[in-house]
Amino acid sequence: MLPWFQNAFPLYLAPMAGITDKIFRRLCKEQGADVMVTEFVSAEGIFRKNARTVEYLDFDDTERPLGVQLFGADPDHLGEAARLAVDWVRPDFLDLNFGCPVNKVVARNGGSALLKDCPLLERVARSVVRAASPCPVTAKIRLGWDRASRNATTVARLLEDAGIQAIAVHGRTRDQGYSGQADWEAIAEVVRTVRIPVIGNGDLGSPGDVARRREESGVAGAMIGRAAMSAPWIFRAVRGFLKTGDLLPPPSLEDHWAFIRRHCQLVVEERGSERAAMHSMRTRLMAYSHGMPAARDLRHRFSHLESLAELDAVADECLRHARSS
Ligand SMILES: Cc1cc2nc3c(=O)[nH]c(=O)nc-3n(C[C@H](O)[C@H](O)[C@H](O)COP(=O)(O)O)c2cc1C
Repeated sequence: MLPWFQNAFPLYLAPMAGITDKIFRRLCKEQGADVMVTEFVSAEGIFRKNARTVEYLDFDDTERPLGVQLFGADPDHLGEAARLAVDWVRPDFLDLNFGCPVNKVVARNGGSALLKDCPLLERVARSVVRAASPCPVTAKIRLGWDRASRNATTVARLLEDAGIQAIAVHGRTRDQGYSGQADWEAIAEVVRTVRIPVIGNGDLGSPGDVARRREESGVAGAMIGRAAMSAPWIFRAVRGFLKTGDLLPPPSLEDHWAFIRRHCQLVVEERGSERAAMHSMRTRLMAYSHGMPAARDLRHRFSHLESLAELDAVADECLRHARSS
């Protein structure tokens, strides 16, 4: 069994392309996330070793256990890419993406498109498991391609037989995108079908959600995505709640701003250009504004930010206003 499941209920930060970069993973790790997965990379990206891929595969030892997520549909190519990735960065595991709904990916038969072609999915999984050995391989799936062809239990069984060591299940079909609600009963069905650990994913937004879904479904771990974008401290809160049943108070407004400031500062240091860094942070700041006072106004201000000094001015004003009201 993967060591992070032994006597533990690991909290995964969900892989999110464009979001879960090295800096954000570091911040989430500090907030108590246990397991990290990189943004997805293609076999071709690994063969070419282009700058993007080098950046995607870069991680710190402090992030371990960490998995490199691969997508693709050619079993031999992906096997070769898996071996290269393992030799190159020595991750704790590889993760196969069979869940991505994005057109660009499914048009090349990658991501969730493989849920429609179980024989190919099985060949991909077997090829990667063989090539990556002894590095363990896990997989991330959705419930199926569409409502009429939900096949998560069949896919999970195939993956288990192919040597996959854990499966994360996002409780939606591909055609649902992110609409509707994740179906945790379907996730529970997968838990009942396989012996390997199943990680539940979809709409976990609070410590109570995680505790309830764990109890109802019997998942061996939880994966949190969008909720962590606006509140990375959710991992600490979940951990505390599962341990003691007590809800930690949310961070103070001062701490919330300090967190945002640090995230921006780290991105500025990495990018070199303050302006480019602050531009790249705009969508992230929108997410951080959830639950803050006067969030609408803040979002408007964030959409024009060009520097850390401007961010500080917005923060000062917000804090002053909060203290006086
Ligand atoms: C912006 C964004 C990017 C994503 N990128 C990936 C990805 O690269 N690989 C992957 O397996 N899932 C990806 N996902 C899906 C998430 O990992 C997760 O399954 C989904 O957001 C549901 O979990 P949540 O309700 O906790 O957000 C992405 C989701 C979002 C919102």
